[in-house]
Amino acid sequence: MSEVRGSWGSKLGFILAASGSAIGLGNIVFFSSNAYKYGGGAFYVPYLVALFLIGIPVMILELGAGRFARRSMPNALYQMAGKRAEVAGWFGALNASIITMYYIAILAWILGMWVGSLGALWQASPVEAFGLSSGELSNSMSYFFNMISSQRPLLYVVLIWAANILIIIRGAKSIEAVVKIFVPLMWVMMVVLIIRGVTLPGGIEGILYLFTPDFSVMADVGIWKGAFSQMFFTLSLGFGIMMAYASYLPRKNDDVLSATTISFLNCSFEYIAGLAIFSLLFAFAIAPKASSLSMIFFVVPEGIAEFPVLVGIFGFLFFTLLLMAGLTSSVSLVESVVLSVIDKFDLPRMKVLVGVFLVGLAGSVLFVLPQVVDPGLSDDGTLGFTLVDLFDHWAFGYGLLICGLFELIILGWLHDIDALLVFINESSRVKLGSKFRFLVRYILPLVIVCILVLSAVDEITGGLYGNAMETGGYSGLHFVAFAGWIVFSLGGAVLFTMLKRRDGGGGA
Ligand code: PFF
Repeated sequence: MSEVRGSWGSKLGFILAASGSAIGLGNIVFFSSNAYKYGGGAFYVPYLVALFLIGIPVMILELGAGRFARRSMPNALYQMAGKRAEVAGWFGALNASIITMYYIAILAWILGMWVGSLGALWQASPVEAFGLSSGELSNSMSYFFNMISSQRPLLYVVLIWAANILIIIRGAKSIEAVVKIFVPLMWVMMVVLIIRGVTLPGGIEGILYLFTPDFSVMADVGIWKGAFSQMFFTLSLGFGIMMAYASYLPRKNDDVLSATTISFLNCSFEYIAGLAIFSLLFAFAIAPKASSLSMIFFVVPEGIAEFPVLVGIFGFLFFTLLLMAGLTSSVSLVESVVLSVIDKFDLPRMKVLVGVFLVGLAGSVLFVLPQVVDPGLSDDGTLGFTLVDLFDHWAFGYGLLICGLFELIILGWLHDIDALLVFINESSRVKLGSKFRFLVRYILPLVIVCILVLSAVDEITGGLYGNAMETGGYSGLHFVAFAGWIVFSLGGAVLFTMLKRRDGGGGA
């Protein structure tokens, strides 16, 4: 007997939830580190092309499909194109589960830094881990390394998982209640950080750097690849997150308008996050390191520690912002997985929540375990950090785009695309016509295939895993992660598809 499917209390609630999912760690960290890597302003051009060419169109499709089928991705795709399509849907849901596990592990470390921002983070502390000597480390680095080498992250990861489950306990209703507070607050905090950043001496230089294009890097395919995969990640596309959220929409919704609004909110947040971070970096002449995670854990805190006044308050604000942005994204990942299971097996929500909590927690624990496998493994030496790096490489670097490609093939070719467009057009002011259909059927799959092929060529010619050689060659682990990713996401997808469907709908 299926439970009645809830729905958003208002359109605003849906927009806040969807933009809360899109605005996450990706906006605050990955965009800025990519922009830095590719010469500041130059990154905007491919990024804007990616936004209009792929971001908004795929978001429209996901919203339309979710509202049309009123199901989460595996079940919506099954309904629209049969069992083959369902495998692709579960592949997406399971890739999303992997990302959820390490996204939550990162949030657990952020919670640790948040606790530290109340005091300890700003003081020098001797480092007992990883054979590091405190002399060469900033206070935030020492604090971070001490924290990740202790057992504390295990507690933090339980707390973050519990928070996720609590926020989604009643589906759309409880998510909406939380995003109504968190999302506006995130904007306010970001504006406060920008004002602080640009009023620092030298801060404005950073903004100029961010807005001065360097067109010479435009010929680099890497920048295009970076922009396109970042677009999928930042807009939470490919894994059916938006489909799950749209399945809670009422029968009528202007999907074109919603998709454009969510995408613009997301990208504006990203730009203003760039303003805050770049002004800070330039004010204190701090160069971001290659890794984007070091940006949140070391680089920005190092800048904040240099503030003339109110260091503790701004530090606390920064980590609170990261926690809120991360949570409103992680809940969308968890909710889409939970909803996929409920929609297929017609199980009570509480049972599924407990199951997902236990499995997800076990996975996240692997990522935060403090043991050192091999101090030469990478510069931090924990298994967790290395696993985040490896799984991110597959589940995000490849999984996301592969899922996006499957989605486009299913919606564009296996399902009647015209029927879907008619459905979207019925309640949208801007009508989608044959050009949009051409984009979905030909251009977008082609663009994604090109990016995937280029990545695979890089992979092979670059020694199978881009920087494996430089990072002490954890290529053995690299293969374990690759095999783990395939078995978990592909094997799991086939298994889930074969299991008997008990839904009879899953929708109200
Ligand atoms: N969009 C989120 C961010 O930018 O951090 C992360 C994310 C959420 C990625 C959901 C993918 C996803 F399906």
